[in-house]
Amino acid sequence: MADLDQRAAEILNANDRGGFTVPSARLYPHQWNWDSAIAALGFAEFDLDRAWTEIETLFEGQWPNGMVPHIIFRHDGADYFPGPSVWGCEGSPPTSGHSQPPVAATVVRALYERDRSAGARRARALLPKLLAWHRWFHETRDPEGRGVIAATHPWESGRDNAPDWDAAMARVDPQGVTAYARHDIHEVDPAMRPTQDDYDRYVRIIEWGRAASWDHLRITREGPLAVADPGLTFILARADRDLSALAEALGETARAAEIAAWIDRAAEGAALLWQDHLRSYAALDLRSGLPADGVSSVGFLAFYAGLSDPRRDARLLATLDRILSSAPFGVPSFDPAHPKFDARRYWRGPTWPVMNYLIGRGLEEAGLVDTASRVRADTRRLIESAGFYEYFDPRDGSGAGASDFTWTAAVWLAWASPSNA
Ligand code: GLC
Repeated sequence: MADLDQRAAEILNANDRGGFTVPSARLYPHQWNWDSAIAALGFAEFDLDRAWTEIETLFEGQWPNGMVPHIIFRHDGADYFPGPSVWGCEGSPPTSGHSQPPVAATVVRALYERDRSAGARRARALLPKLLAWHRWFHETRDPEGRGVIAATHPWESGRDNAPDWDAAMARVDPQGVTAYARHDIHEVDPAMRPTQDDYDRYVRIIEWGRAASWDHLRITREGPLAVADPGLTFILARADRDLSALAEALGETARAAEIAAWIDRAAEGAALLWQDHLRSYAALDLRSGLPADGVSSVGFLAFYAGLSDPRRDARLLATLDRILSSAPFGVPSFDPAHPKFDARRYWRGPTWPVMNYLIGRGLEEAGLVDTASRVRADTRRLIESAGFYEYFDPRDGSGAGASDFTWTAAVWLAWASPSNA
């Protein structure tokens, strides 16, 4: 194994807490949903059995209504805010009260296809659980059946402080929020993290959900925030296709019909999210009906979703090429030409390897080889020169956030490493 491959495997092993990994030893000391799914792709490069276990432990947190929560709390230490008592969710293990981007079905398909005989039993056991989770998304986060999936908390999108939520967040009243103490700003430079004002509003939205007894349908319809997210929409659309292929491969064809209806609806959703003046897809605030006013990198996940529309695709690719030409280390999470761009603040500008992986895979599959190779080469250069950081400054490639980050190591092993040429 090359040195960096070795180092990446060491990071995964060091962040392994026995069947599940933490995203980062100190900043995120529990199990996170899409981090675990991506971690499994990394483990699969050297320990396929361990990769399956990561997904299986993630589903230990699944709720009776199908939701797989964004955090599973794995110990009751006071080293993370907001912990279980803030969420007030019943159940064991304790969890947060909303979900995160559903990449797991795509990962399960990949694990199964690596070794069908070793994976058949485990894939078959996960199939109904994945299906229940996807159904939960379609029914409670798209109750009108428009083909777009709403985030009801910025954390549900996996992109905490993206400018996509600014207008909706401005309407959340932070007055009266219960006093609390953050831990994150003691681990990482606060200039790279969401602001205090953001946090007050994050906590208020949680308090609303808790008061509504985590009635997810009601939260989507009446809660403080509901923004249709191209990230959730495209990742679920892709995962639905993978789930359908997996069901077929396992001979569970009866399940495929339900999934086919979801896949059809995603094409309508994509049309709704397209903003011609931005030449991209954009988040849509379901309360105000207004779209976001800038380009976040999740728009480029349309390729990953397999939702092709020739006219839109050409414009979208031109937007991506424009953004890449202004960012030496792409793909920036937000358009560098926009006044809200902030090169080192989390989801308002930095480049994230996990997003590059998803965007890059989509471009590869769509045959857009030049742009795909650029995205992969940038990811490789970033990790080679700065290390396994959580995210990176797109202007100079310096590392930001926490180091020795689980999904950065996993993306290296599964995709960015030259060993995967
Ligand atoms: C942050 C990210 C989210 C990720 C989590 C753990 O909250 O925004 O996407 O899952 O950290 O790494």
